[in-house]
Amino acid sequence: MTYPVLLTIHLFCALFFIGTVFFEVLMLEGIRKHLPREVMRSVEIAIGSRARKIMPWVLLALFSAGIGMAWIRYLPVLASPLSSHLGAMLWLKIALATSVFGHFITAMTLRRRGKLHSLHFKRIHQSVFAHMVGIVLLAKWMFYAG
Ligand code: HEM
Repeated sequence: MTYPVLLTIHLFCALFFIGTVFFEVLMLEGIRKHLPREVMRSVEIAIGSRARKIMPWVLLALFSAGIGMAWIRYLPVLASPLSSHLGAMLWLKIALATSVFGHFITAMTLRRRGKLHSLHFKRIHQSVFAHMVGIVLLAKWMFYAG
């Protein structure tokens, strides 16, 4: 029963995280040019402070569930990543997830130092967006690749 529970937690947290990133990149960036700079800045600050409250918990649950699943079911394939597509692609997915975590820490550090400007906000989101596309493709295709 543990595995399905971890998978469900992982999936819901992934939905939340990926949904937020897609919203920010595809919706929010699309309205940037229609709004005055100060209004956009206020929206970014408001979203940022909401994200600071919720995202650490979402990421904690997402990573804990992911590590738990890897531990329960995928240790053998992870131990020899070159002998299966599943092992190689799961490693790549974990590497991308680790990089996403690095982006999150960078954003938090810049914000704490008062250096998270609109350009950083935009670049970090675009980069995390690209990571998300890769993670989702790997998460599904790893089971079907030759
Ligand atoms: C940004 C972080 C991450 C995101 C957005 C993410 C997203 C996803 C998604 C969308 C799935 C497909 C779930 C499903 O179809 O039900 C998945 C599966 C999986 N993820 Fe992650 N993941 C992340 C981090 C991790 C980490 C850090 C690990 C392990 C160390 C991990 C291990 C797994 C495993 C083992 C599966 C396959 C589960 C299965 O179907 O048996 N994930 N992930």
